[in-house]
Amino acid sequence: MTTQIIEPYRHEIIGGKGSIYYRAHSYHTKVPPEGIVPMIEHYTRPDAVVLDPFCGSGMAGVACLMTGRNGVLSDLSPAAVHISTGHTARPDPLCFAQAARRLLDDLAMLESELYDTPCISCAGEARTEYTVWSDTFTCPACDRRVRFWDAARRPDGTLDKTLHCPACRATFRKSDVKIGPATPVLVSVSCPACRTREQRPLTQAEATTALHDHRADISDWYPTAPLETWREMWRGQHRDIGIITAADFFTGRNLRALGAAWRAANESSEPTAMRFAMTTIVNGASRRYQWSPKRPTDVLSETLYIASLTYEFNSAKSLVSCASTPGPASCSTTVTTQCGAALSGGGR
Ligand SMILES: C[S@@+](CC[C@H](N)C(=O)[O-])C[C@H]1O[C@@H](n2cnc3c(N)ncnc32)[C@H](O)[C@@H]1O
Ligand SMILES: [Zn+2]
Ligand SMILES: [Zn+2]
Repeated sequence: MTTQIIEPYRHEIIGGKGSIYYRAHSYHTKVPPEGIVPMIEHYTRPDAVVLDPFCGSGMAGVACLMTGRNGVLSDLSPAAVHISTGHTARPDPLCFAQAARRLLDDLAMLESELYDTPCISCAGEARTEYTVWSDTFTCPACDRRVRFWDAARRPDGTLDKTLHCPACRATFRKSDVKIGPATPVLVSVSCPACRTREQRPLTQAEATTALHDHRADISDWYPTAPLETWREMWRGQHRDIGIITAADFFTGRNLRALGAAWRAANESSEPTAMRFAMTTIVNGASRRYQWSPKRPTDVLSETLYIASLTYEFNSAKSLVSCASTPGPASCSTTVTTQCGAALSGGGR
């Protein structure tokens, strides 16, 4: 039986970007689910099945769960289907918590190897929260290797567009110099024993760990999809700093941690939820996280730009955050990967 809708929905649509469903996983064209809820309630009956053939991050599916409707979601993009599946999956909370605990336990030794450091105050075992990396370049005037960190920061910590060589005082712009390999300049370390958190230059041992060729130690799978020059978000900058594949958006250390987390997620008793949890942290663990003189904010969306000063966040630490989904047990969401036109019978 079909219901004819006489009156169009005429009320203001209110939605925010702050809900856990909106914030759980990034996607470039998300719609707040609470803005979709009144539409579903106005245009469908409680026993309706709602189809979104271009579901993106699956916010319409979340809205279905909020209203007790069954949903069918589809998208051409496998990434969208992965994110939609995660947003609308409803794992048993206890099983989810146990699987998350096991995953973190599985990664604990590697986390310690990659990010632990002796506390400077109490010599206890402290943890690197993040490392700040700086581009380097050769001064066009005196030929010395200079850190962007030293050349661009004003006394108040903000960045100057004019670079000043700390050795010879020559001034120039970033576009005048050839960027060299990045180097670590700062760490933020927290110590559970003496309850301190400090930001300071790296010790020699920390610098050695940061600069170690971690990629050579990786035995797990990691993505090597090429970033071809024809891609919309490709920039000459990627060529200049050696970004050739997806893997190059990560430091070797974080790539190793993420590869291990992905393997552990796939081996988990709750693979869908763990894979989803794992990909929520990927952007924040990448070199796309731009350093800020005040405090870390977030990765810039809609660009693959890599700044001259970047954070390398402890990716194992980021995995601790979890997601949950709403909705009564009687409704569910089906997610598929296919062309929306094919769903309507117009495709091949
Ligand atoms: C505007 S976004 C949808 C955003 C979504 N409402 C959300 O909350 O995230 C449009 C989506 O359509 C998908 N898309 C584009 N062409 C498609 C096609 N022919 N078949 C299926 N999906 C397609 C894109 O991958 C993208 O995820
Ligand atoms: Zn301490
Ligand atoms: Zn110089």
